[in-house]
Amino acid sequence: MKSIHIAEIIKNQDISENIYDMTILVPEIAKEAKAGQFINVYTGKGEYILPRPISICGIDEEKGTIRMVFQVVGKGTELFSALKAGDTVKVLGPLGNGYDISEKHENNVLIGGGIGVPPLLELAKRLEGKKYVFIGARTNPILVDEFKALGAEVYVATDDGSEGFKGNSVQLVREINPVVDAIYSCGPKIMLKAVADWAEEKGIKAQVSMEERMACGIGACVGCAVKIKKEGESDWSNLKVCKDGPVFLSNEVVWNE
Ligand SMILES: Cc1cc2nc3c(=O)[nH]c(=O)nc-3n(C[C@H](O)[C@H](O)[C@H](O)COP(=O)(O)OP(=O)(O)OC[C@H]3O[C@@H](n4cnc5c(N)ncnc54)[C@H](O)[C@@H]3O)c2cc1C
Ligand code: FES
Repeated sequence: MKSIHIAEIIKNQDISENIYDMTILVPEIAKEAKAGQFINVYTGKGEYILPRPISICGIDEEKGTIRMVFQVVGKGTELFSALKAGDTVKVLGPLGNGYDISEKHENNVLIGGGIGVPPLLELAKRLEGKKYVFIGARTNPILVDEFKALGAEVYVATDDGSEGFKGNSVQLVREINPVVDAIYSCGPKIMLKAVADWAEEKGIKAQVSMEERMACGIGACVGCAVKIKKEGESDWSNLKVCKDGPVFLSNEVVWNE
């Protein structure tokens, strides 16, 4: 069950330009969390009262820790970046549904873009079978060695071609054309739409984690609505990314509205 906790920061360090790797001690969340879920992190400052949703990048149930990798883009994440080991932070979670890994597949393709890559790391740890991981970034791809250490076949794309393939991660997937039975993705909406198109061509329903802007983060407002048309339903309805997602089936998302 989701609830608020005061978590001690075990580690918080920069791993790339404006990107931080934070581990917090929060056994109550670590024992329940699934890959693809997220937590709401509070700034502790009255003027930035809304929590910031951050994906779970790693779960260590034994140590009772949760790992998050985040990019500094505004005041909230800037405040998080200044936290040090020993400080505490208020968090709520685990939130959302996470990826469904109940069905085993031989060939799993994981496609991440930018700051959508972190949740795929915990997913890769939990997936059986072969893993092809495609990591896209503007310039500095993150967590590459950690995916390799899990035995994944890793491909990297950068917008400027400074590392790996020049282009985005979905263009690279099309170039490599891996054998695929299941697709999991997280990243900006435009990338997820491209993943959905590729999945449709392959006759597969991809699981895509949507990154909508959020307000309450717990289903109490409509700040994060996304149009979803479930199989068998005649029309779309507004679902909430924070409560009904963030992971949806690619063929159920109404992409063009
Ligand atoms: C389910 C979910 C999981 C997420 N996981 C991660 C993660 O693992 N690591 C990470 O770095 N970020 C993640 N984000 C995005 C993160 O929540 C925002 O970057 C953060 O809330 C920004 O807070 P801020 O106060 O620093 O910036 P703000 O001042 O609130 O915003 C600064 C800029 O960031 C943009 N922005 C804010 N929120 C989002 C969003 N949700 N999607 C796209 N752009 C946004 C704003 O439009 C603005 O341009 C996730 C978002 C969601 C919804
Ligand atoms: S952010 Fe309020 S309902 Fe999702």
